[in-house]
Amino acid sequence: MINVYTPAELDALRVAGRLMADLLNACCERIRPGVTTGEIDAFCRSHLRTLGDGTAVSGCLGYMGYPASLCISVNEEVIHGIPGARVLQRGDIVSLDVCGSYHGFVGDNTRTVVVGGPGDLTAETRRLLRVTRQSLETAVLAMRPGVHLSDISHLVEKTVAEGGCSVVREYTGHGVGRHLHEDPPVPNYGKPGRGPYLHEGMVLAIEPMVTLGKPAIRVLPDGWTVVTRDSLPAAHFEYTVAVLKDRAEILTPWFERDPFGPDWMAG
Ligand code: CO
Repeated sequence: MINVYTPAELDALRVAGRLMADLLNACCERIRPGVTTGEIDAFCRSHLRTLGDGTAVSGCLGYMGYPASLCISVNEEVIHGIPGARVLQRGDIVSLDVCGSYHGFVGDNTRTVVVGGPGDLTAETRRLLRVTRQSLETAVLAMRPGVHLSDISHLVEKTVAEGGCSVVREYTGHGVGRHLHEDPPVPNYGKPGRGPYLHEGMVLAIEPMVTLGKPAIRVLPDGWTVVTRDSLPAAHFEYTVAVLKDRAEILTPWFERDPFGPDWMAG
């Protein structure tokens, strides 16, 4: 069953979403050469306690035994990378996935950034980031009541394919609200015109996980870290999105602050 949230509940989701977007951006701003991913995790934990009234909790820490306050996935790591001793190098691409709840409502969001600055991307990693981001933005712009969920999935897949990249199929976006993972799953591929319709008040985490090479993945022996089988880089962007009367609203507006200044990826 897909939950539908009331205007008052959507207001609470806006507050939680903005808090998680602020936390994500604060973590992204600490990504630079020489920093360890464990240091970013420590910052995330302590910064979370300073936001709002101090009662926000990480959705990662303790989730099925996950040991950190956010996921940090570097280069060929797609999702669920565990922060630790790894030292970030100029040109690494780093996906930060931050989720958590505030006053009983959840925000879930992800962005992939480059260590150093935009000038440290290769032509290929630049294309990967641009295509992944574009697939997310295109999907969100199409969300409104009366559209099939699978239309959104199809649009992500199509945008990624047109950009010459591949969509990971084993993991999906999801409904989100009072819980991190609610119905329905939101695949990043599929035929249009199938499955449930979107309705006003639905809240979905849209999260394309995209690879530069082949789509095949495997899970490392740590039981969490998902990597590409061909070891080529991957990217991941995510918003928590509410379906309103005639459009969608991004509840985790991390795009309002960019670690490299406005719009560097659009050019
Ligand atoms: Co998610």
